Amino acid sequence: MTSPLAFDDAGQGPVTLLLHPFPFDRRVWRAVKPELALHRRVLSVDLLGFGHSTSKTPPRTMDAHADALVALLDSLQIDRVAVAGLSMGGYVALALSARYPARVSHLCLIDSRASADTEEAKQGRKQSMALVASQGVTALYDGMESRLFSRDPMPQFTDFARAVASGQSPNAVLAALVAMRDRSDYHDHFVSLSIPTLCVAGSLDTLTPPDELAALADAHAHGQFVLLDGAAHLPCIERPEALVRALNAFLPSR
Ligand code: MLT
Repeated sequence: MTSPLAFDDAGQGPVTLLLHPFPFDRRVWRAVKPELALHRRVLSVDLLGFGHSTSKTPPRTMDAHADALVALLDSLQIDRVAVAGLSMGGYVALALSARYPARVSHLCLIDSRASADTEEAKQGRKQSMALVASQGVTALYDGMESRLFSRDPMPQFTDFARAVASGQSPNAVLAALVAMRDRSDYHDHFVSLSIPTLCVAGSLDTLTPPDELAALADAHAHGQFVLLDGAAHLPCIERPEALVRALNAFLPSR
């Protein structure tokens, strides 16, 4: 069966799956993917409902996103992948590794977290849903922008991120807010993983603070941690070279 997921497929060798943050799509990897693909095969995917992976019923759970990804891997006859997920992409990566442990060889969380939403965060989701329903996805992005980038980011970065976010389907964004609000706590799952793990955090990230990721990496027997100096929540856009260095040192290559 063909998968509804849109993706880019570049390079050769062991496969790495790149999972984008919210509320964006696979274009956020544009400065990272070509460099990674020099050493391995890289699939960057639009999560179901986002980008060109249009869906009338976008997933309202991380598990459903994971199921859609495994259906894609099946259709491409790919058995095992290294997964790198940024923020919401990290939540999906965690669900994928929990639901399909045999399919994941390496797990990398970038500016993400393994814990579930706090009560305060759940309230924030409610406000975000109301904002998207009344004013659209661009208004949501505008409210987030200062926490996505370092102080005084280059306009080319913020313009790009705003354009990518603005094109997302409000339905997919609302469904993702539900999926993020209701996601499981994967801390114990992460800590018990027997595969190599890497946590990467921007030193200036206030959305998913580095301390939490550092502690998570520390709790994992094979956990590595890399702090990206001067990066905030979207190093794939603002500090791609530093992110590529961290990923190249961790991901399997040919
Ligand atoms: C993201 O960047 O994917 C989001 O900030 C994640 C979240 O809201 O928890």
